[in-house]
Amino acid sequence: MNLEPKLTIAVDGYSSCGKSTLAKTLAKELGYLFVDSGAMYRAVTLYFLEHKISISSLQTDSNKELLNTYLDKITINFEKNTDTNSYEVCLNGRNVEKEIRQMDVSLNVSTVSTLKEVRQKLVAIQQELGKNKGVVMDGRDIGTVVFPDAELKIFMTADIDERARRRFKELTDKNIATTLEEVKENLRQRDYDDTHRNESPLLQAKDAIVLDNTILSQKESLEFVLELFVERRV
Ligand code: DC
Repeated sequence: MNLEPKLTIAVDGYSSCGKSTLAKTLAKELGYLFVDSGAMYRAVTLYFLEHKISISSLQTDSNKELLNTYLDKITINFEKNTDTNSYEVCLNGRNVEKEIRQMDVSLNVSTVSTLKEVRQKLVAIQQELGKNKGVVMDGRDIGTVVFPDAELKIFMTADIDERARRRFKELTDKNIATTLEEVKENLRQRDYDDTHRNESPLLQAKDAIVLDNTILSQKESLEFVLELFVERRV
């Protein structure tokens, strides 16, 4: 396949639809950089939790200066895991890929992602990572805010029971203790929070293509997007 010129590919959608899996395999197939933007919101959340910072208090206007002081102390970057050949998120130089998947982070990340100052900081890093194109980035606002001019935008969705089953398996495979009901409730809450927040809510971009992968295998989802990729490059 002729891979030049490079495109920007945005993959947005609901929690646990397989966005990261699709984005990662697509990036590998195309030799593009893969960026999991949700991991960045999770890393900031982990910082607040580890420093015992009251996340709800950061939502009040009177604490904005304090929030900016904390944000100045946070550095987020990605490092390559040479065993898995994928990029893992680092918080102030420490690889936190496993810690950010814990349930306490999942329970607090939606609130953190409502904070305008957090979003501004992370969007700037995301735009810098994608400035040379050749990137597949997944998240909630990639096609609407981070890269509104992306040449290919995918909006992913899937049935909530199926998503809960997949996420539950993923967590138990990593020995993270939880129940299917807890996972489903967390997904439901995050879907609601993500679509109802004031700052950059999860929205389908006008020019995004919907991919409902409830009954599709990972391979079928990848093929669907690769076909679109080929069309877009003509
Ligand atoms: O993709 P994820 O489930 O790891 O994302 C964690 C949270 O971060 C999710 O509840 C919404 C938020 N998020 C966001 O607001 N914007 C993004 N671009 C990515 C994630």
